[in-house]
Amino acid sequence: MTTPGDAKQQSSVTLDARQRLSATLDVIRFEHATILYRDRIALDNVTLGVRPGEFIGVIGPNGSGKTTFLKAILGLVSPVSGSVRVFDCACDRLRCEHRARIGYLPQKDLVDPHFPITAAEAVLMGRYSTIGLFRYPHKADHAIVREALAAVDLLSEARTPLGELSGGQQQRVMIARALAQRPEVLLLDEPTTGIDAPTQHAIMDLITRLHRDLRLTILFVTHDINLISQVADRLVLLKTRLFAAGPPAQVLTRDTLAQVYGKDVVLADHDKTPYVIVGDHHA
Ligand SMILES: Nc1ncnc2c1ncn2[C@@H]1O[C@H](COP(=O)(O)OP(=O)(O)OP(=O)(O)O)[C@@H](O)[C@H]1O
Ligand SMILES: [Mg+2]
Repeated sequence: MTTPGDAKQQSSVTLDARQRLSATLDVIRFEHATILYRDRIALDNVTLGVRPGEFIGVIGPNGSGKTTFLKAILGLVSPVSGSVRVFDCACDRLRCEHRARIGYLPQKDLVDPHFPITAAEAVLMGRYSTIGLFRYPHKADHAIVREALAAVDLLSEARTPLGELSGGQQQRVMIARALAQRPEVLLLDEPTTGIDAPTQHAIMDLITRLHRDLRLTILFVTHDINLISQVADRLVLLKTRLFAAGPPAQVLTRDTLAQVYGKDVVLADHDKTPYVIVGDHHA
């Protein structure tokens, strides 16, 4: 015979098992992770799981920990407490095989656009994490480069020097470089900043297509809340702490946004997703 107490205990056990199962299915899992730069807290007690194939928009004001969040996934910074697991691995070795499954487009890219290399050579650099720095690329690597350039519609510019391409085209080359790694997860840190509105939309369409066709898991950091809320499955709202994570319409509420961006938040209805205007905010 089971008492109500037993039933309660049983259901909480089942729930625990379910939670545990869903946690092991996560491709990325932050568990009470706190990250410091010397004595400054950049991320405080963040718990969040990312499931395979999700498209996540990461938003928050300047200095809110968005880039740190991506760096923690890449193992460039490690939590002082809690853990960050990628593909169920929590080691902090940078050259961990699991990290090779993650492609990354940094916030400001290190490649000088005037550096005398062609678009194809820039994309080939994305292969070095796989082929090793001091080995020669094989035929297969060149084929992957061509495939990556084709995916961003720039195959015709393969031999064009990077410095002769427009800002939007250069950004597409950088996306191709991350794709040439054949990643399962793609991290993009403000890939549309400083680019005109039509090109921003073109890049967003490209990422959405790659997400769909290649079944990539995508984490997309941006300040453009209205652009990302149209395409992301979930938004993650950071300001050192994780303020909210969920479908855009659930995260973009006046109360939540006011807590993070201050009181100068304007919300208007726009189809099903709210349209958000936030004042300039500096942390
Ligand atoms: N290398 C570093 N050394 C010391 N402090 C750092 C370093 N990188 C970031 N920080 C600090 O950590 C906090 C989070 O920075 P982070 O770059 O993650 O913010 P962000 O949300 O990406 O901001 P932005 O929107 O301006 O790109 C900030 O207070 C920042 O000053
Ligand atoms: Mg940043």
